[in-house]
Amino acid sequence: MNRKYRKTVIAGNWKMNMTASEIKPFIEQLKENMPKTRTCDVVLCTPAVMIPAMIKAGKEAKVAAGGQDVSKYEKGAYTGEVSATQLADIGTKYCIVGHSERRQYHGEDDMLVNAKARALLEKGIAPIICVGESLEQREAGVTMEYVAYQVKAALNGIDATQLRRCIIAYEPIWAIGTGKTATSEQAQEVCEGIRAVIRKIYGARPARAVSILYGGSMNAKNAAELLAQPDIDGGLIGGASLKPVDFATIIAASNQ
Ligand code: 13P
Repeated sequence: MNRKYRKTVIAGNWKMNMTASEIKPFIEQLKENMPKTRTCDVVLCTPAVMIPAMIKAGKEAKVAAGGQDVSKYEKGAYTGEVSATQLADIGTKYCIVGHSERRQYHGEDDMLVNAKARALLEKGIAPIICVGESLEQREAGVTMEYVAYQVKAALNGIDATQLRRCIIAYEPIWAIGTGKTATSEQAQEVCEGIRAVIRKIYGARPARAVSILYGGSMNAKNAAELLAQPDIDGGLIGGASLKPVDFATIIAASNQ
């Protein structure tokens, strides 16, 4: 982390877990266990139907609500989709785009991820843009080239002012839900590389200000070491964000 230049963000991705009625007790437990003074922003990204409950319950604890996906379209005949306008209207502050599960199960490609990020920015919602390589790509030695391409494509047409609202999450696919975390060196190397890509496009100052998160089996035990890396500005946490005590421990680890 480098707090002098950028925000630390601890974001939970609940994926398709929990229900709206479980949110209040979760936040109460989280509040009891997390440090009273915090130096990071805390976000919980839930299925869209649960966002209003998260906003309500999270207000006092200063936990922001985020979505997990958005339509690239503004409105119209797109049954089942949720627009950025609709997310913004209920008070959503953040939204994940390009999660590897969306890429894998819903065939989302980099240009679609870019369109979704731009749709969110138009409505003042901070996109959490996910990138990351597969195990095959890591083993073939093409991790940085691939991730650099993903970042470049996702940021296409986004200007320096909009970039300030963007958060990048580096999530190696092989580390997601597997209990196999990237080492802090591996994670730092790619996060540093991502910042270098952004520097090339936007220059040193904007690159210095972008928060880059690590995601992939981050937990209460390994968070402190990962967050101590200079280019890792927070975490995008799946499994461990479903457990209030563990999530609180990760938040505390970001206070170092
Ligand atoms: P896990 O923390 O469960 O590995 O999930 C990471 C993730 O996909 C967050 O978006």
